[in-house]
Amino acid sequence: MNSEKRLAINGGEKTRTTPLPDGKKVGAEELKELTDVIESGQLFRWGGTKVIQFEKEFAELHGVKHAIASSSGTSSIHVALSMIDPAPGDEIITPPITDIGSILPIIYQNCIPIFADVQPDTYNLDPASVEANITEKTKAIMAIHLFGNPTEMDSILEIARKHNLVVIEDCSQAHLGEYQGKLVGTVGDIGCFSLQQSKHMTTGAGGVTITNNDDWGKRGLLFTDKGQHQDWQWPRKYSLIGLNYHMTELQGAVACAQIRKVQNVVERRRRSGDLLTTLISEAPHLRPQRVLPNCKSSYWLYGLTVNPDAPFSAKQFVEALRAEGIPGSPSYIGKPIFLCSESLENQRTFGGTAHPWDHPRARKGIRYYEGLCPVTEDVLNRMVTIPMREWYEEPDVRDIATAICKVAELYRP
Ligand SMILES: Cc1ncc(COP(=O)(O)O)c(C=O)c1O
Repeated sequence: MNSEKRLAINGGEKTRTTPLPDGKKVGAEELKELTDVIESGQLFRWGGTKVIQFEKEFAELHGVKHAIASSSGTSSIHVALSMIDPAPGDEIITPPITDIGSILPIIYQNCIPIFADVQPDTYNLDPASVEANITEKTKAIMAIHLFGNPTEMDSILEIARKHNLVVIEDCSQAHLGEYQGKLVGTVGDIGCFSLQQSKHMTTGAGGVTITNNDDWGKRGLLFTDKGQHQDWQWPRKYSLIGLNYHMTELQGAVACAQIRKVQNVVERRRRSGDLLTTLISEAPHLRPQRVLPNCKSSYWLYGLTVNPDAPFSAKQFVEALRAEGIPGSPSYIGKPIFLCSESLENQRTFGGTAHPWDHPRARKGIRYYEGLCPVTEDVLNRMVTIPMREWYEEPDVRDIATAICKVAELYRP
């Protein structure tokens, strides 16, 4: 197709000479909501209306009974763990390709993260590896829908039901992703979302946890509020060890405006992501992240891998792609998350101790090391990520595809 073309990295013409479109996620709608809050003088959740309104709308959007807003995606996962009230030493099985914010709440809840390997094509939890990692200490499985791509939930749910485990979904990168007609976050027992700046909807920093379980809904809300009962009993009553994870009314105001936009954001990203997959389907040496049948990704990032026998590495591919005027990054986090964190790799945490791994209730001998999750390591070594933004139009996606195909066909470093 591009046989007579020369790559930009070799002095040829760039595929694209202008930057891909970028935009601002916030504007007049958010300002209006914020003005209401400032004029009311009420910035704290209790006494205000915006956070409560946002929670109601987020729950309605997902068709669930409870949505609990919090200060970050990290706190939304801590809230999920607080709901299920694990004991110290309980194990939470999760994949190692994620943000550290998925893992730190597990440690702070005195639990042990157990890393199951991923599937090489979806980059999400491999059910067989999950099953192989179940012990008498396992309390929950936390799936992470990487880059917006839904995990194979049927198999995960089947394993969980067999072993009486809770299923948590980390949907931080997957707002409105769909698994067989259901929104992610509603397939398992609890869903967690980040509202950090880069996410499909944002409050700068923020999070939400959803569930249909009434007891967990109540516990989660108490947990975000220091365990405090809001019926103003005297003396005060705290019924659990909570934290202060409130979302403020300022964030709540922005969230109320953002929730009206998120469907459009996801639809636009999905149109672009799915089109890109079609356009590069014939490109040699590459494989786009696989979206499972009857599932819809919400494309936080566009992921692909360079085949093991490709004539270029992921890093070389990205260099040539950038020269064509198309942004991209080799890998995502570089290494499995447990090797990115000194505290995890060395099991040195609070005051230099090995808590929670040395807790008397914890299973002995759990270690994190290179080779623990070989598929994850291999996938990360061969992974390329391309930004996928809601401002792209079809010609932008076509430029990305043209550059990808050109580099894949011609680059021989
Ligand atoms: C999959 C995943 N989980 C959790 C988090 C943590 O969210 P936050 O940064 O809002 O605390 C992130 C953030 O990037 C994420 O991508």
